[in-house]
Amino acid sequence: MTITKEPSAPLAVVLGVTGNQGGSVVKALAESDKPYRIRGLTRDITKPAAREFAAGGVEMVAVSLTSDNAADARAVFTGANIVFMVTNYWEHLDVTREVAEGKMLIDAAKAAGVGLFIWSGLESIINVSNGKYPNVYHFNGKGEITEYGRRSGIPFVNVQSGWYASNFWKLQGMKPKKLADGTFELALPVGPQTLLPVIDTPNDYGLFVREAIECPEFGPGSEVLTSGQDITVGDMVSQLAEITGKKITYRRIGDEEFMTATGMPPSVALEVLESLKYHEECGYYAGKTTDASRRHLARPTRTWADFVRATDWSSVLA
Ligand SMILES: NC(=O)c1ccc[n+]([C@@H]2O[C@H](COP(=O)([O-])OP(=O)(O)OC[C@H]3O[C@@H](n4cnc5c(N)ncnc54)[C@H](OP(=O)(O)O)[C@@H]3O)[C@@H](O)[C@H]2O)c1
Repeated sequence: MTITKEPSAPLAVVLGVTGNQGGSVVKALAESDKPYRIRGLTRDITKPAAREFAAGGVEMVAVSLTSDNAADARAVFTGANIVFMVTNYWEHLDVTREVAEGKMLIDAAKAAGVGLFIWSGLESIINVSNGKYPNVYHFNGKGEITEYGRRSGIPFVNVQSGWYASNFWKLQGMKPKKLADGTFELALPVGPQTLLPVIDTPNDYGLFVREAIECPEFGPGSEVLTSGQDITVGDMVSQLAEITGKKITYRRIGDEEFMTATGMPPSVALEVLESLKYHEECGYYAGKTTDASRRHLARPTRTWADFVRATDWSSVLA
């Protein structure tokens, strides 16, 4: 653990520290042989995850980073050499709010004189698909924030987040279902050849942020595409079956059937449907490969098979 309070060490301010991505960033910086001071931001410093980071040497600060709270954002960014920002669309499903918060945080970091701003972006699917898939707000909003950050003049790196491996373990409509004959089926509205950059986010996302900070090939203006392993959904299903010893098949289903299976309100189900069809047609990272982003990682990432082995599937494949 190289988290320090030594004033000569760079100060990294991490948003979303109690969540998947921010927590992973702290883990990766703590693994580094370079020392960092870390300030972790949360709305509730009494929650167990926050207490655990505080015990590990992270300066935990309570703040709510909504767009009407620019003064507090500037205050928590003051003195930071590095800021890591993630926004959480799924907490409110409001793209206008997500974009406003992202822009406010970029402005606040710029006003505070932050040396390196790292943002967890995604592609603008509406732009990449030439308007064919307009409803994927959790991607489009992040694409808009990326554009704003690049134009802002702040030293800016976009460390795009890959597809969470845990989606296939916990999201309704994405995880295997039990069939009447006792076997299991994963059913999605795309073909089994659909390729995804699958990542065990809590374990590995932060490794890419560390690479963006420490590796001279990256740094301001760069883009990092995270992936533990690029793998097709068909291969994921066969490996899941092989490792767990369960019979699991893959089936491409119709759009309506998928939207109903998600159990989500129709507008949200449409968003998820369009994102999957975009991944199949255009590629998750719009056809860009992840090889260069993986070249200077400090340790190997988990593969899908590693994730499957490390996960308790008993509640899903019961
Ligand atoms: N699922 C996927 O495959 C996938 C792929 C790529 C990108 N993403 C994106 O990942 C994002 C979510 O990231 P995550 O998984 O790391 O989230 P998460 O685990 O749900 O955690 C959300 C974090 O955001 C913090 N937060 C939320 N609102 C805040 C506020 N007003 N002020 C301060 N902190 C706030 C929370 O802190 P406290 O609760 O402690 O205050 C928490 O640490 C989403 O926007 C999603 O679109 C998901």
